[in-house]
Amino acid sequence: MLVCSCNVITRADIEAVITQLLDEDCWRLIVPVQVYHAMSKRGKCCGCFPNVVGLIVEVTEAYHRRQETCEAEIISFIEKLKEKHHQCETARMIARHQNSQIRVAS
Ligand code: FES
Repeated sequence: MLVCSCNVITRADIEAVITQLLDEDCWRLIVPVQVYHAMSKRGKCCGCFPNVVGLIVEVTEAYHRRQETCEAEIISFIEKLKEKHHQCETARMIARHQNSQIRVAS
């Protein structure tokens, strides 16, 4: 299934990269930019990012269950991951708003 139409990236491609990043550091708080960077791609319209965030959470949780990580640690880590994504999305929205104001002013 195609997740990113701008870069022609499938769900399987994204899942593989997330797993690779977790193999390198299973406690890394992965964000979409890291996934795209690992594939030498970058977000263009970034309309796929909410779906990529969902995949990061899903794959990370499944990864830790396969590793038999303690349930309390999984829940705590997934909460941290979701908070990190919320912070990144807020920063992205602020940057988009500021860029639109700069365009209006010029
Ligand atoms: S759909 Fe992924 S960057 Fe546009």
